[in-house]
Amino acid sequence: QSLENRVRSVVARHRDDRGALMPVLHGLMEEMGHIDPAAIPVLAEELNLSRADVHGVVTFYHDFRQSPPGRTTVRICRAEACQSVGAAGLVEHAKDRLGVGLGETTPDGAVTLEQVFCLGNCALGPAVQVDDRLYGRVGPQDLDRLLEVSA
Ligand code: FES
Repeated sequence: QSLENRVRSVVARHRDDRGALMPVLHGLMEEMGHIDPAAIPVLAEELNLSRADVHGVVTFYHDFRQSPPGRTTVRICRAEACQSVGAAGLVEHAKDRLGVGLGETTPDGAVTLEQVFCLGNCALGPAVQVDDRLYGRVGPQDLDRLLEVSA
């Protein structure tokens, strides 16, 4: 199925939703894991919006990634409780170690690094989520181990 057809079928499912663009974008994320830039003109046409409007919304929300995620996604909590126990340093460590910025994927496609704001594990910060698994009290060395396992 072509990208265009996939986009159109997601739009068809949400066309009657209120403010259809957001539900459609979430639907695309679920189906494809990212919003391909090539989807933007199709969305604009289908929803009767300008390309600039669609592009603006896609780039405004960090959850709408525009390239496929890596095989493993590592999310580091940056909300207050985790910040107070060293989350910022952990993020810096992860960036150095992986050689990527937040929201980016390593060139080999292994790991995507992201920040999140609260994983509901506040008493055990810094909290880190690796794919679907949650880890608490993660220090730089723990993170290294998690990255090795997922590499
Ligand atoms: Fe980090 Fe809630 S503040 S898990």
